[in-house]
Amino acid sequence: MNLTRTAAIATLLLTTSACSLAQLQDAKPDAKPVNHPVPAIQDTESPAQRDARMEWWRGARFGMFIHWGLYSIPAGSWNGKQIPGIGEWIMNNASIPVADYKALAPQFNPTAFSAHDIVALAKSAGMKYIVITAKHHDGFAMFDSKADPFNIVAATPFHRDPLRELAIECRKQGIKLGFYYSQDQDWTAPGASAIFRAGHDPITHHWDKAQDGDFDTYLHTKAIPQIKELLTNYAEFPVVVWFDTPTANMTPARAAEIVTLLNQHPNLIWNNRLGGTYPGDTKTPEQYIPPQGFPGSDWESCMTINDTWGFKSYDTNFKSTQTLLRNLIDIASKGGNYLLNIGPDSHGLVPAPEAERLQQMGQWLSVNGEAIYNTQPTLFGPEAGALSTTEPALSTPSKDKSGNPKFIPAWNWRSTTAPNKIYIEIFNWPTNATFHLDHLPRTVTSAYLLADPTHTQLKLTPIPNALDIQLPTKPLDPIATVLVLNTTN
Ligand code: GLC
Repeated sequence: MNLTRTAAIATLLLTTSACSLAQLQDAKPDAKPVNHPVPAIQDTESPAQRDARMEWWRGARFGMFIHWGLYSIPAGSWNGKQIPGIGEWIMNNASIPVADYKALAPQFNPTAFSAHDIVALAKSAGMKYIVITAKHHDGFAMFDSKADPFNIVAATPFHRDPLRELAIECRKQGIKLGFYYSQDQDWTAPGASAIFRAGHDPITHHWDKAQDGDFDTYLHTKAIPQIKELLTNYAEFPVVVWFDTPTANMTPARAAEIVTLLNQHPNLIWNNRLGGTYPGDTKTPEQYIPPQGFPGSDWESCMTINDTWGFKSYDTNFKSTQTLLRNLIDIASKGGNYLLNIGPDSHGLVPAPEAERLQQMGQWLSVNGEAIYNTQPTLFGPEAGALSTTEPALSTPSKDKSGNPKFIPAWNWRSTTAPNKIYIEIFNWPTNATFHLDHLPRTVTSAYLLADPTHTQLKLTPIPNALDIQLPTKPLDPIATVLVLNTTN
């Protein structure tokens, strides 16, 4: 194999490995009741108790993910070379020795970080919760940890605890805070896991002798004590704990030790990435929107604005506000949440293109949020697209990677639902300014546009079991104009 081809395949592996791992987890059906060594809250609560526990999260629809850590210093480059892959994986992707990576800590002094500004940004975007990396796979704690000195308070000249500052601001500004914690992979703690990458030890997956050790020692001296700190040092927060990348090391018995801690916080919500057969509360499709959602399950699509979670100085592949907003609407119409990521830089600043897009989303939500928050999924369905039945152009195969028919999304409109209301979010304005519905799940009594301050009634032309709605000639918003149908139930 020639070098360029090897490099191309390696790049592909680097960029897809984490993602496909998460997709594998999502592809699994909901875990059957398992005899967990320690029953988790999901094993013991009633459906009504679960509904009450999940209530705020289900209504929230939109949250902010923050990937921030030492990796924002190299920002995608090491020894003068751009390292392919996601920014927070640079230590693994560039096989950086532990001592060299740890030497980043004394250089980390993000004095421009403002918890106030980040929380205000999330608020102005219309986000209802924040989830920040308390410790990512690099093992560096972004909080005051007595359990391990490799943390932002003890090991950097910054000496501040951003999680504490965020907790204070979230409380003040009325938004919820959750913590991401990499419980299994930790590339600087001896004995912890690493996910395999070509060129690393085939058994331990380590690339530096300093990583070798005993997993249980890591679990008992670092992960569990730090999870305890996170669960107890921030008053009412975290409301969410976001685990990641469980490997075979996270056996049921080991996961059970973590569950014992989680069980002490009965309102906590945690995702499906703890491992050890614990399904958690939320499915976590990563970088994609499930074509039909996951009916009957709570789920959250996490996505980047560009192509990295952790800051990379040269990743400028920012999605448009139109794409981001339509993703949010698409997700809401399928009953999920959108956890949209920002990657602050090594000064603590949010890249301007990310902040701008969030503010634009917030402007739309300030007018149209009623169609998103606390809504139920679509009563229609086919508007989201369909499985491909024919072989289209050769360049777009009709089968997905596993040989199943591919879902071809359609982007004309979406719908969300509330008692006595159906919301239609129109993306492509019909050329004759008539919106046609050929299936009516409820009786419609009147209609108006949500962004029309006077809520002027639109002309309805009933057709048996169908309806034409006369729209103005132009959309009120080129990204999405919300048509509200008042209904009898
Ligand atoms: C992953 C990656 C990671 C990122 C996360 C976000 O699986 O390992 O770097 O934090 O997904 O969902």
